[in-house]
Amino acid sequence: MLKIDLTGKRALVAGVADDGGFGFSIAKSLAEAGATVCVATWPPALTIFNNLLERGKLDESRRMSDGSLLAFEKIYPLDAAFDMLGDASEELRTSKRYKDVGDFSIEGLAARMAADFGAQPLDILIHSLANGPDVKKPLLETSRSGYLTAVGVSAFSLVSMLQRFGPLMRPGASALSLTYMASERVIPGYGGGMSSAKAALESDTRTLSFEAGRKWGVRVNTISAGPFASRAASAIGIIERMVQYCAANTPIPEALTAAEVGTTAAFLSSSLASGITGSTVYVDKGYNVMGMAVSDAGLSPAP
Ligand SMILES: NC(=O)c1ccc[n+]([C@@H]2O[C@H](COP(=O)([O-])OP(=O)(O)OC[C@H]3O[C@@H](n4cnc5c(N)ncnc54)[C@H](O)[C@@H]3O)[C@@H](O)[C@H]2O)c1
Repeated sequence: MLKIDLTGKRALVAGVADDGGFGFSIAKSLAEAGATVCVATWPPALTIFNNLLERGKLDESRRMSDGSLLAFEKIYPLDAAFDMLGDASEELRTSKRYKDVGDFSIEGLAARMAADFGAQPLDILIHSLANGPDVKKPLLETSRSGYLTAVGVSAFSLVSMLQRFGPLMRPGASALSLTYMASERVIPGYGGGMSSAKAALESDTRTLSFEAGRKWGVRVNTISAGPFASRAASAIGIIERMVQYCAANTPIPEALTAAEVGTTAAFLSSSLASGITGSTVYVDKGYNVMGMAVSDAGLSPAP
């Protein structure tokens, strides 16, 4: 029987702070396929995430098909805005949520994993994070710093992660990120340079697939997911309308689930996808092929 088998593989999923987003579902699918999963969490969300886990609030979502609970081998702090600890301001480093977590930079994360698990600890790298402080502003009203933060945190962070994790990855390893169709089509309301960040992420996926493929044999892909009401997406302010509109206008007219992204990520991270690299893989119920709406669901009230 052909099945996704990630037994003996270690994954790092960067961008998990609750059970409501793609990162969590991807972590669960990877674990269901047999992988050991570490996660990296944004320091401002770390204490809340640990509390939710300790108090059993995520147990229902953590329940696996064999009855056991999804376990994280390690939960690391990560602020993907910083390549090295010295890049963060003194003020941030000594602030309440950051001062006790240790090195939260991308370089610090790579060093911690190497210290915890040895020189080549990783088979699967998942980049499931994004942040754009001006996301609610149209591009025409976006500040330079808002734009650069969106691109820095949401796109360059993948480049930075591959620079540092590439040498730590085992033969046959895979890196995967999450993108959104606003990179290539206009999605009113997805502002602040986030559309630019996703365009960069997709372009970088192609370039990195060549460079990381030749250098370390690592495959690099990105999943272009349809709209889904995660915590991050809810911050955009129009996610419910986007979900409703897509569900009414996709070839498969129903809302996308995070589990559908999770299983695709597990496939792309496995040796079954050894021929796929540099690709943007749509997991959006087919919305990307549509050229004309068939329903105005979700369009009311108008923006
Ligand atoms: N939800 C959607 O509709 C949708 C659609 C397509 C693509 N995506 C992408 O999927 C990925 C995951 O997002 P999600 O929607 O599942 O939401 P999510 O809230 O589960 O994940 C986003 C994560 O990014 C983390 N984060 C924010 N700033 C960070 C930083 N500086 N350093 C480290 N982590 C940081 C947050 O703490 C959060 O855990 C993102 O790249 C997002 O753009 C989402």
